[in-house]
Amino acid sequence: MCGIFGSVANSVEYSTIKQGLKNLAYRGYDSAGIAVATNNGVMIERTEGHPKFLPDLDLRGTVAIGHNRWATHSPPTKDNSHPYTSNDNKISLVHNGIIENYTEVRRFLEEKGFTFYSQTDTEVLPNLIQFYLSRGDDLQAAMRHTAKHVEGAFGVIFIHADYPNQMNLMKLGSPMYVGRADDAVYVCSDAYSFPEEVKTFSSIDDSKILIIRKDSVDVQDLNGTKLTLIFEEKNVSADTYCLGKHEHYMQKEIHEQFDYVVSALAGRIRDAEIKLGGLEDCVESFAQSKQIIFTGCGSAHNAALVGSLAMEEVGRLMCRQMPAGELKYTDLLVDDKTWLVTVSQSGETADVIGCIKNMKNKGAKVLGVVNTPNSTIYQMTDCGIHIRAGKEVSVASTKAVTNQMLAMLLLAYKIGLENGCSYRDYKDFLSEVQKLPYFINRVIAQEEKIKDICGHYKDSKTAFVIGRNVLEFIAKEIALKVKEISYIHAEGYSGSELKHGPLALIDDKILNVCLLDKNFYPEKTISNIEEIRARGGKVILITNYTKHEIENKIYDRLISVETGSNKYITAMVFNIVGQLLSYHLALHNGRDVDLPRNLAKSVTVE
Ligand code: F6R
Repeated sequence: MCGIFGSVANSVEYSTIKQGLKNLAYRGYDSAGIAVATNNGVMIERTEGHPKFLPDLDLRGTVAIGHNRWATHSPPTKDNSHPYTSNDNKISLVHNGIIENYTEVRRFLEEKGFTFYSQTDTEVLPNLIQFYLSRGDDLQAAMRHTAKHVEGAFGVIFIHADYPNQMNLMKLGSPMYVGRADDAVYVCSDAYSFPEEVKTFSSIDDSKILIIRKDSVDVQDLNGTKLTLIFEEKNVSADTYCLGKHEHYMQKEIHEQFDYVVSALAGRIRDAEIKLGGLEDCVESFAQSKQIIFTGCGSAHNAALVGSLAMEEVGRLMCRQMPAGELKYTDLLVDDKTWLVTVSQSGETADVIGCIKNMKNKGAKVLGVVNTPNSTIYQMTDCGIHIRAGKEVSVASTKAVTNQMLAMLLLAYKIGLENGCSYRDYKDFLSEVQKLPYFINRVIAQEEKIKDICGHYKDSKTAFVIGRNVLEFIAKEIALKVKEISYIHAEGYSGSELKHGPLALIDDKILNVCLLDKNFYPEKTISNIEEIRARGGKVILITNYTKHEIENKIYDRLISVETGSNKYITAMVFNIVGQLLSYHLALHNGRDVDLPRNLAKSVTVE
């Protein structure tokens, strides 16, 4: 969602903060702003839209903070963008998250004579700090009292004009990282977006107050107890923000899947054994559980659906699944024999975090399928599998989804071997999963053809994506990608459900993307496709049949891909075709593929 970036040094360039905000734009933005403490006081710049629209200024100071806003409480106007100032103009503050009791706090402050110039929840924060300072608190006490007075989740940094050599930070719920370089300290909403020169970083725990100077970081909890931060090596590949030969990060991340699948498999299959280091202490308890609940949001939830099916069919454990935002408020039967599997790329999704808290209170144990070490979700889980997908910059999740499914398949087959899946199926899986990078590259090699096909269907107003069994979940995932990136209305369905309602909509204007696995009841899907054809529906067929094995009357366009016989791996390969389809449909429609409207990379509010 929002992004925060700040720095303290002998001389902090305004342009460094602007670049930091540009790097964070992938998390979502609709306005942006920067404050710099200079010799002439605090200078503030704001803009609507992308941080690149902030003016280019030759400005420097001792401390500077910046913010990309993703509107929740009020329209994305320049006036509503951060930084916010206190009534006495001394405090300039940026905020990620939500202040849930802001109406009450605002009333409290208005009664004390404070006035407000925006409709946002954030504006109460600088004024509440000013209020506590005016009561005689020192700065840290004012921060502690403010943090206790407000309810919600927040990550805040601010400059106070009376303390021009320090940045002040309050953290409760929204991710914040402090990074150290040789002669500067940085604060950032994620550990990947620090500048190159940052060598070590620390993830800030909840309920902490920090005073950050160029050569020191003082930490305390909300009772004023002093604490120490532990810093670790930053390990981010230098080409994360480099597009190379690609046009967009989404394209780059789709193409990178060969490498990241290789990386996710590295060391995990040895002597016909699946090794998942992060599970060693809990795999026994997991294998004996009464039920497993799979959860996540959006694409991660679609991956969880695949994982759940595999865990039931291969791992032979009772599974169910629900989107995290629903699971949190659903009174399922859960006890200490329940395991929750949470799937999240960012590790910061608020619905998943809420869900973990709720399930843990009921006694469940939690296994995380995570991409971001040290993220909040990573820290809340009992054990986990790191999916090793590297950083995703594009808002639409692609390589992480592939690696999430891969991680859950490894887990399902590992458990399956204990719980009775046939050794032959297990061995077949092991040999086929190692061919996945090859299958992926064979799909990428067809990109020009896929692009051309998309050109013919770019004006479609609606797309149906259909598949059966595991391909139903891939259909949902492809439909999600199509709608979020190209803004074409799309629905993912089970082929078997078509005749129970959706067929009413089929005519020659609707695009149908049909997923057909020749190894899984193909005749059933073919008859679904015939139902579509009989009503004039246009069909793009994604299949592992070759052109010569399938009658051409059932499709308008054919995308034939190479797979083995494992239906889950086939599903992952088809999904990559779907990623390229949605990418090129979006490009043909002139969309901003990496930053689609109304979406954020990391959804840190409910
Ligand atoms: C879709 C997409 C979103 C995310 C969802 C969960 O392409 O990116 O649907 O999958 O917001 O995010 P994480 O995985 O970070 O929890």
